[in-house]
Amino acid sequence: MIRKIILLPIIFTITSCGLNEISEQPTDSPNIRERQIAFKVISGDIKELKDILENDKIIDKEKLKTTSTQLLKHANIPFEYFGENDKGGHSRPNIWTQNDTFIEERNKFIAAVENFNQDIQKEEIEKARTSFGNITTTCKSCHDLFKFKTN
Ligand code: HEC
Repeated sequence: MIRKIILLPIIFTITSCGLNEISEQPTDSPNIRERQIAFKVISGDIKELKDILENDKIIDKEKLKTTSTQLLKHANIPFEYFGENDKGGHSRPNIWTQNDTFIEERNKFIAAVENFNQDIQKEEIEKARTSFGNITTTCKSCHDLFKFKTN
């Protein structure tokens, strides 16, 4: 009798772990928070660049160059935190079922950031205004497909 009582919770634990795997329940992986922070850092770079390009009467080219280099460095970081066990957060589950499309969206975003950075480093400011718009288009495109709305 005593043995039965002890065994039951153990069996229950084992079966519920199995079920979680099959039904692909969202996890509470710490990587979710890591990627959210990394996206917020990118968002900060974007705001800084937007502010200079739209509001500054005299464009500080050096500041543009350093911020653009910073964005280039930050751009890949969130995508290191989308492993098999990192489902959840504001990420839609189709990131994992349509992963090829997600990777295409990521590549379009990285390419847009690289193009913008080239324009900035060459001090082609008017061209950079257009390539900056292309970056924000890729943010929205990926969010529409793969991120739950947060407001
Ligand atoms: C390839 C897809 C993809 C691209 C490109 C992308 N994002 Fe996201 N972003 C996501 C996903 C997915 C999340 C949700 C992360 C989570 O909570 O799991 C997210 C989350 C965020 C967040 C955190 C707040 C929230 O609503 O969860 C911010 C801020 C953000 N993105 C800004 C940006 C900006 C700015 C760009 C472009 C400069 C960008 N993202 C480009 C997919 C993308």
